Amino acid sequence: MESYSSSNLLKAQSHIWNHICNFINSMSLKCVVDLGIPDIIHNYGKPMPLSKLTSSLPIHPSKKPCIPRLMRVMTQAGFFVEHNVNDNELEIEYMLTDESILLLKDHPMSVTPFLQAVLHPILANPWHELSTWLKTDDPTTFETAHGMLIWDYAAREPAFNNLFNDAMASDARLVTSVVIEKCTGVFNGLESLVDVGGGTGTMAKALAKSFPKMECTVFDLPHVVDGLQGSDNLNYVGGDMFKKIPPADAILLKWILHDWNDEECVEILKKCKDAIANKGKKAKVIIIDMVVDKEKGNGESVETQLFFDMLMMVLASGKERTKKEWIKLISSAGFSDYKITPILGLRSLIEIYP
Ligand SMILES: C[S@@+](CC[C@H](N)C(=O)[O-])C[C@H]1O[C@@H](n2cnc3c(N)ncnc32)[C@H](O)[C@@H]1O
Repeated sequence: MESYSSSNLLKAQSHIWNHICNFINSMSLKCVVDLGIPDIIHNYGKPMPLSKLTSSLPIHPSKKPCIPRLMRVMTQAGFFVEHNVNDNELEIEYMLTDESILLLKDHPMSVTPFLQAVLHPILANPWHELSTWLKTDDPTTFETAHGMLIWDYAAREPAFNNLFNDAMASDARLVTSVVIEKCTGVFNGLESLVDVGGGTGTMAKALAKSFPKMECTVFDLPHVVDGLQGSDNLNYVGGDMFKKIPPADAILLKWILHDWNDEECVEILKKCKDAIANKGKKAKVIIIDMVVDKEKGNGESVETQLFFDMLMMVLASGKERTKKEWIKLISSAGFSDYKITPILGLRSLIEIYP
């Protein structure tokens, strides 16, 4: 103990404090979004003075002095840019950054529904049970906290079902726009595709529109797809991917395999293989998921991948996988070849062939 210098001790304390307080960034961001601050600044149309921002907010007058502090921590986190900071004559003004623009409620690819789901108490409370869960044989921390698996919870609680499906749809909008712009070749020539665990169909709908000759099926649990209407080349089918997947040239698995452990993934992939049997050269499975790479990414992107790995451990029975783990999974399910295209930021598009 004595060998620690006081400066090392203080540095260590500061690092610990930073990590204890990490949640403050998440919760302050949620508050900023709940108050509609990005939208208010955006609608103002130019850098917004603090007094104007404060008077536009639905807050109690006694809380006005809190707003510059909330804005300061979120500016430090990269969500706003301050103007006139060093000029005492002028009032501080705020502008949006790329990150807060992506939180605008009406942005076509808004990340706000994802934020609202991940930080909702239903998904945030299980974190308090993590160490308890590790001492039990419960399959997921979510179950330790709520007494049932996340999919059963969604089936029973329509409000949570909607919250979760909206979060997935918001992500699918962003991913689809990149996939359609940069990966057209992946879908060219396919006559049919089943989006397994395709949620409410955001990705399949966009693919059906971009590839009118491709028959698209959204396959998900009945509580997700019941009552949804298809169109010319899009239809919805309710079912369980562990039992049978409808046949097609290609199966899409976006953000599915990271929800499940290796044994479950091999089961799902084998069902996919059955579904594309007899489809000749076109047959493939298209996976959209992370490939964890501690060497390639920068500090923040690696940390975010590791955060998602923990998220999958707490909410489902899954994990984020390294390239080596993906290859093992793909070959265990009996697929002969694969191609990884790292085109989706923290995620990749992985094609696997029977
Ligand atoms: C993480 S979400 C991904 C949704 C969508 N693919 C996306 O990325 O936007 C996982 C989806 O798998 C579905 N799912 C879970 N278990 C399933 C099962 N046994 N059979 C079919 N779908 C299932 C869930 O209902 C949910 O829509």
